[in-house]
Amino acid sequence: MDAAGSASVTTESSTADLLIAFGTTTGTARDVAHRIAREAYSFTIENSYTHYFRPRVLSMKEISVNYLISNWVDKNAKVIFVVSTTGQGEFPDDTKELWRELCGKSVPAVPIRFAAIGLGDSSYEMYNYPAKKLHNRLKQLSAISPFEVCLCDDQHDCGYAGALNPYLERCWRAWVPENCTTNPESVPVARYNLLSLTASTDECNNQPRPTCDKLERRMMIRNERVTNSEHFQDTRLIAFDTTNSNLIFQAGDVLQVFAENFPDNIQNFFELYPQLRDQPPFYLVSDPNMRWVSIPVELYELCGPQPWTWETIVTKILDFQSIPGVYAFQILRNFATDPLIKEKFDEYCRPEGLDDLYNYTNRPRRTILEVLLDFRNTAVLVPPNYLFELIPFMRPRAFSIASPPCETQHIEILVAVVEYTTNLKTRRRGTCSHWLAEYCQIGQKVGVFCEKGSLRPPPNDAHVIMIGPGTGVAPFRSMIKQNLDKWDKHLFFGCRNKDMDFYFGHEFNEMVDKGQLSFYPAFSRDSAGRKLEYVQDLIVKEPNLFRNMMASPLPIYIYVCGRAGEMPKDVRIAVKAVFEKAGICDTEAFLKSMIQRGYYQTETY
Ligand SMILES: Cc1cc2nc3c(=O)[nH]c(=O)nc-3n(C[C@H](O)[C@H](O)[C@H](O)COP(=O)(O)OP(=O)(O)OC[C@H]3O[C@@H](n4cnc5c(N)ncnc54)[C@H](O)[C@@H]3O)c2cc1C
Ligand SMILES: Cc1cc2nc3c(=O)[nH]c(=O)nc-3n(C[C@H](O)[C@H](O)[C@H](O)COP(=O)(O)O)c2cc1C
Repeated sequence: MDAAGSASVTTESSTADLLIAFGTTTGTARDVAHRIAREAYSFTIENSYTHYFRPRVLSMKEISVNYLISNWVDKNAKVIFVVSTTGQGEFPDDTKELWRELCGKSVPAVPIRFAAIGLGDSSYEMYNYPAKKLHNRLKQLSAISPFEVCLCDDQHDCGYAGALNPYLERCWRAWVPENCTTNPESVPVARYNLLSLTASTDECNNQPRPTCDKLERRMMIRNERVTNSEHFQDTRLIAFDTTNSNLIFQAGDVLQVFAENFPDNIQNFFELYPQLRDQPPFYLVSDPNMRWVSIPVELYELCGPQPWTWETIVTKILDFQSIPGVYAFQILRNFATDPLIKEKFDEYCRPEGLDDLYNYTNRPRRTILEVLLDFRNTAVLVPPNYLFELIPFMRPRAFSIASPPCETQHIEILVAVVEYTTNLKTRRRGTCSHWLAEYCQIGQKVGVFCEKGSLRPPPNDAHVIMIGPGTGVAPFRSMIKQNLDKWDKHLFFGCRNKDMDFYFGHEFNEMVDKGQLSFYPAFSRDSAGRKLEYVQDLIVKEPNLFRNMMASPLPIYIYVCGRAGEMPKDVRIAVKAVFEKAGICDTEAFLKSMIQRGYYQTETY
């Protein structure tokens, strides 16, 4: 075959252009695109040092249909799209323009050879919709893909890598000629170099100094535990000062927060690499041959202009708590001098060794820093610029904004501090939540930016049902406080005990007293001797509420927010049950249509 431009692999040794186009909201798709470029770059043509692929990484916002047709229809050229999902199965903002163009009535054929990779979360109803739609639309437009769309799932034990790794292997098998190989014995080229200040001043002066308008460093002004001190869960109400700030948000949006590394991790790192602590500042620059490599602009805003010290890099840039994947071991194996250790790393890198790797890293959630400490003799031989191959850049974490936009002097978030013990009895601390709660001081500036959440507020006149157990209540507090005099509002909240984790209970009760809200709290552990009661149990107890709303001319909006897992599914079953009591025959079809039209929205994490 090869009308499909694929399965029969050519034996030609000419090089191929590869475009990796990503659409992202929080940066995962960008990371995946870079990883694909790095893997593609590792194929060299036998008996020459020529790289087979010439990868290029672009954001979808830099791409038009014309650009694809003019530059990427060549037989040898390939395009890989990596697109994440946001909102209720929506395209990320940076992808919307290209999508609009592709859907245009007079759009011409786009006969590129492509693969589409979706990033999503199967706990959402509209799982990976953008990637599925993009894949189908491109095929309608005569684009050629030998593969099905790749669906990466946050819920997979190995995260997106669970689907991505085997998919990429198939892509390379289909697209890379037989006379090209990746040499497992050669050290992958490092993407970054460290340029000392003694290098030519021209080189230093020519380094980019990008700015990032969306990120601001705002002062933490409140860090209050809102769960009872005897309760196992530590949850904090955290506020950042926003006077004279350009941060703009709507009720339902999220605040992205950059944490720093924990002091004990920083200390462990410098004990492993004591020589780095006192090194003079340097420029972190990308390899000029790898045109796709860049440093996320947010980091310039967080750390100030380059040059940077190792202290800055170790505190704010490298994420010591990330869980290493195969690539980290591919790097480490090159520096191992002990043959047994090298063999161990090689095993982890082979497809048959993935279970062992999973048991060593993902299952106990072993961090990259712990791996470096476990294999200390190898780790100390890793050159400093290769540390950027092993340890990824710090990523921000999303928190629903809990305060309303009308309170312009601050932004509040409700943070459940992540802390748990693994199957190896190791204590684990959530990078951002634990840092905010324990290490960030009042008065300290934190890198934050606002981002559209997936919950879109209803029009002025509507029945609004908000279902938010635990921290899921946060965006509803913002929506309710911003719209005290609007909507027929009903809040279903769930927690364990009235005295332990009843977030904002007094505020909501006051609103009830003023006739501004109907409030339905479920206390699962206060139901002494009775069946445990959750939000879904309260919903099924209210068939009249739903029946009356359906009899009214106003639209009904239902919002669900909180932890992924059983809750969103149980709530869905409960809502269908009350719809059935209200006389709907095909409740599944009814709910699906509500979801499609934005009347039933979920945000789970
Ligand atoms: C749109 C959105 C809104 C959000 N809103 C809020 C909010 O309002 N409040 C809030 O607290 N959080 C919220 N989150 C979650 C938040 O972004 C972080 O994921 C959370 O705080 C953990 O981040 P961390 O850096 O502390 O932990 P990380 O270092 O990222 O570790 C978290 C990881 O640890 C693992 N883990 C956690 N608990 C266990 C366990 N018991 N056993 C095994 N593994 C475990 C899981 O794999 C989890 O992914 C939201 C997320 C999204 C996407
Ligand atoms: C606010 C929000 C809404 C989401 N909505 C969906 C969805 O509707 N369907 C889905 O499959 N995944 C959904 N996801 C999961 C993301 O697509 C997934 O986490 C992805 O890895 C994010 O990639 P990005 O960082 O490149 O944006 C959502 C995630 C968030 C934070």
